[in-house]
Amino acid sequence: MTTPYLVLTVILIFIFLFIYMVSTVVWGKVVSANDKKAESNKEETRRDFLHVSTITIGAIGSATFMWPFIKSMNPAEDTLALGTTEVDISNIDEGQSITVTWRGKPVFIRKRSKEDIAEAKNVKLSNLPDPEQDSDRVKKEDWLILVGVCTHLGCVPSGQKVSDKKGDFNGWYCPCHGSHYDTSGRIRKGPAPDNMEVPPYKFLNDNTVLIG
Ligand code: FES
Repeated sequence: MTTPYLVLTVILIFIFLFIYMVSTVVWGKVVSANDKKAESNKEETRRDFLHVSTITIGAIGSATFMWPFIKSMNPAEDTLALGTTEVDISNIDEGQSITVTWRGKPVFIRKRSKEDIAEAKNVKLSNLPDPEQDSDRVKKEDWLILVGVCTHLGCVPSGQKVSDKKGDFNGWYCPCHGSHYDTSGRIRKGPAPDNMEVPPYKFLNDNTVLIG
């Protein structure tokens, strides 16, 4: 359930509670008036009863009217599905990378070798233009998942194929203006100011990752 949907639902519940409380108070008055005034107040009682009935019918009518609008604010299933990409990673061997599309952007998934991991970890943060620990960029050491877009001007760096140029730090190389990224996707050399972005993702099991 999205936040606006939740907020509107809560507001609707409060409206109902408010109307219920008002109705209860008015109904209490009606009963009390009945006890005290009996026949002489029949007209007033009828008016109060009509008042309660009108409020109740109005509340039900409002809810019926609002429900389709509230429901329409909840993203449809197909829209939600577009926001995530489920990827089978069971066929990716150590040292290999694949590219998938998530929200129209390329996402790099690399199964890192032990050497890749060691290189990524054995770097002094003071040597990095955008200091970030490798452990803060991965959920499992052997899997690196990145938005495959150079943070300089948005080219797609090379390095996904085994035969591609991977730059001076064995990660990715952006040929547009010569940015070099390391085996953690961090910028090491060239004009790009930031590390490649890590998208939101989670492992559904050992063979499947959900991006988004
Ligand atoms: S866009 Fe990658 S270095 Fe300029």
